[in-house]
Amino acid sequence: ADGVAGVAAAAPDWDALAAAARPCVACPELAATRQQVVVGEAPAGHRPRFALVGEAPGATEDQTGRPFVGRSGQLLDQLLAEAGLDRAQAAVLNVVKCRPPGNRTPRAPEVARCSGWLRRQLELLDPPVVVALGLSAAKWFLGPRTVLATARGRAHDVDGRAVWATYHPSAAIRFGPAGAPRAGLLADLTAVAAALP
Ligand code: URA
Repeated sequence: ADGVAGVAAAAPDWDALAAAARPCVACPELAATRQQVVVGEAPAGHRPRFALVGEAPGATEDQTGRPFVGRSGQLLDQLLAEAGLDRAQAAVLNVVKCRPPGNRTPRAPEVARCSGWLRRQLELLDPPVVVALGLSAAKWFLGPRTVLATARGRAHDVDGRAVWATYHPSAAIRFGPAGAPRAGLLADLTAVAAALP
């Protein structure tokens, strides 16, 4: 963890951080099974209006190197548009930058080892608002005891940033178009849009 945190903290800008993260082998299993590190995306040349933070890349992200471009990403894009949010103004990041085998949930030591990258991304990009998608991201910002059902629907102040926790689009897919996670995710994104500075 010290290795990543130290290297990440020393990166002077987004490009340097991405270049430092791409060859990361801090997690031996993830480094051996991934195709590539998915660093994330940020608007070129201006501060993001908000950041979307997911859990970890899936198969499509691992193949393309881009965050949220698979099935979850397509639903996310649709709900962002319905909520009136523009992905082009957002940073799109993940707690863990490598795809876990079989899309298993990242383990606590993997999250801990990877954390320096996300911490430095947030410092460098400085988004005023963060949307944490799913429990892994919600816990990263709000602590290990976080429960989505009670944490969602309002902004939490975390180090001067407004952090919203909501459902992951994969839950919205799993529970279907009439399920509670999809409605909750859309309601939360709509509330974020109304609250953006
Ligand atoms: N799910 C995530 O949490 N992140 C991605 O980038 C894609 C799917």
